[in-house]
Amino acid sequence: MTQPGKVLYIIVCAAGPAPHVGRLVTLAQDQGWTVQIIATPPALNFIDIPALEKQTGHPVRSQYRKPDEPKSPRADAIIVAPATYNTINKFAQGIADTYALGLLSEAPGLGIPVVILPFVNNALASRAPLQRSVDQLRAEGVRVLLGPGHFEPHPPSTGGEHMDSYPWALALESLPN
Ligand SMILES: Cc1cc2nc3c(=O)[nH]c(=O)nc-3n(C[C@H](O)[C@H](O)[C@H](O)COP(=O)(O)O)c2cc1C
Repeated sequence: MTQPGKVLYIIVCAAGPAPHVGRLVTLAQDQGWTVQIIATPPALNFIDIPALEKQTGHPVRSQYRKPDEPKSPRADAIIVAPATYNTINKFAQGIADTYALGLLSEAPGLGIPVVILPFVNNALASRAPLQRSVDQLRAEGVRVLLGPGHFEPHPPSTGGEHMDSYPWALALESLPN
């Protein structure tokens, strides 16, 4: 399906698949999305910023703009991938201490669809805080792709074995039409 002229924000967090987020950019652009990459501050160490800026044609943003700088185009949809334990829990709790979380905080209230594709090991996924966060976000209409048929957590220290099977395409497929 094409999305001519529509803007997709891809929020990338500091988890193993982050260096490969260009794969999701390609898939989204093939569907007609204009893509803007937003990185959490720790994710800046994981990604190739010049390559992503060349690929998207837009600066990678990780901080709020200065008051006199132009606004970015508003997102029509947001994908968080890879989504960390940290950012999922902070989003659910209403914390807005990064630009990425500020965007996420407003999105449900603005009616912007949000899809979260986690990358967490099963030690983190089994924690009550994460399970509560997933339930709370789903109750607000956020699509959290965690569980069978979606992202399935791996044992700790094995994340590197799961890079090629990380289901980037599932995030796009999970956006509403
Ligand atoms: C090499 C490396 C790999 C990491 N992988 C993950 C991961 O797969 N999932 C996760 O939730 N956190 C992972 N972390 C921890 C997060 O980077 C850390 O919690 C960070 O504060 C997340 O910040 P963010 O949510 O703002 O991106 C990793 C950290 C490092 C240094």
